[in-house]
Amino acid sequence: MKSKLGISVLFVEDEKTLQLLYKKVLGEFVETLYVAGNGLEAFEIYKKEKPDLVIADINIPGINGIDLIYKIREISKEVKIIIITAHADSTHLISAIEQGTNGFLLKPFTGDRLKATVLDISNQIILRKNIEEEIKLRRKAEHDLLKVNSGLEKLVKAKTRKLEKLNKNLEKQVQEELEKRQKQQQFLIHKSRLESMGELAAGMAHEINQPLLSISMGLDNILHKVNTNKFSKDFLDSKMHTLFKDIERIKQIIEHVRAFSRDEAKPVFDKVSVEEIVHGAISMVQKQYSNHGVEIEVYPDENRECETQYVLGSKYRFEQVILNLLSNAKRAIEKRFRKLPKSSSESKVIRIYCTTKDDKWHVITVKDNGIGIPKENLEKIFDPFFTTSELHDGTGLGLSIVYGILKEYNGKIEVESKLNQGTEISIFLPKYNDYEK
Ligand SMILES: Nc1ncnc2c1ncn2[C@@H]1O[C@H](COP(=O)(O)OP(=O)(O)O)[C@@H](O)[C@H]1O
Ligand SMILES: [Mg+2]
Repeated sequence: MKSKLGISVLFVEDEKTLQLLYKKVLGEFVETLYVAGNGLEAFEIYKKEKPDLVIADINIPGINGIDLIYKIREISKEVKIIIITAHADSTHLISAIEQGTNGFLLKPFTGDRLKATVLDISNQIILRKNIEEEIKLRRKAEHDLLKVNSGLEKLVKAKTRKLEKLNKNLEKQVQEELEKRQKQQQFLIHKSRLESMGELAAGMAHEINQPLLSISMGLDNILHKVNTNKFSKDFLDSKMHTLFKDIERIKQIIEHVRAFSRDEAKPVFDKVSVEEIVHGAISMVQKQYSNHGVEIEVYPDENRECETQYVLGSKYRFEQVILNLLSNAKRAIEKRFRKLPKSSSESKVIRIYCTTKDDKWHVITVKDNGIGIPKENLEKIFDPFFTTSELHDGTGLGLSIVYGILKEYNGKIEVESKLNQGTEISIFLPKYNDYEK
């Protein structure tokens, strides 16, 4: 079967024979054909079917052809219209043109002529239809795209909200974790301070015992003399003098501990004697260590050069440094000696040396004959919370505090250690120069 033109045509003709003839001609190549015998019927069909092309005789019953065109044009400016007329009546034709006619067929005309005219105009119709179809498709595509876009937008928004919520949660978790850590650290720092304070308190008790004993004996003495009425003014003077000296000693010790345990908010830069630092620190723990069989030897090489030297910084902070080194040394010694056979004649000893280096530093060295530090730990010992203490008596903060203090006062620290033989830790303190103050 020959393919037909994809257009719809309304044919309006009142003469029955012509109607049949043209219906046959058109029916052969037009896909959809409507036929009307008068103007009214034609208009009804037009309204209902909206054909692409109207071919109308002007002389038709009901509404005449011109009026029909007029009414159809009111509905559509696009529909193609061809007029059939028997007489070349110019007024009719002009009206028809004014109403927007797209072509004419003068009666009588052959089937071929009709076909040629319709084919000619159908090109425009099909082109237009194609364009319209294209536009429709494009609009749909655009619409679809918009829909997809807005869907995407919604999706992105929803995801963003979800992410924001997650983020908030995460931030909260991080904050909580941080706070937890800070609390833990504060707790441990506090514990470490308490630890040194504990050692201090024990040392302090020892130190105070001495003058207290002396005071008590002195008072006993005086009481005895008073009871036997044998006391002279000289005797009383000398006794009182000793009593006041002992009381003064106790006051000094208490003052020392108080100053030591006080938090110095700002770093203090004083002229401090090395002697004061070393003896200040030792005086607090020497007796106590001795009770545990650990002796502290100061300047065993008889080099006392340091005694008259000065450094720049805080006496109590430097004391704290030495105390931390002493405490580590004592623990390391005890650890090693626990493993030694009872028959061993070696004694537990911490030695403190003092030297000068590069005309720039005073170096205080704390040397022990303890367990030593394995190579792999050497880099870690200054890390906060690094500890090898098994007895839960260490916080791992000691050396990190030492490091912090030395940094604050422009000092430095060096470590040498031999496993199972001992460790030597040296702190370098900047020399005090007279022109500095
Ligand atoms: N003199 C030393 N001898 C052997 N090991 C030491 C010595 N000083 C420090 N260390 C090692 O360094 C670690 C960290 O010391 P520190 O920061 O003072 O923490 P803590 O004493 O609480 O363990 C110790 O646990 C120990 O392993
Ligand atoms: Mg320690």
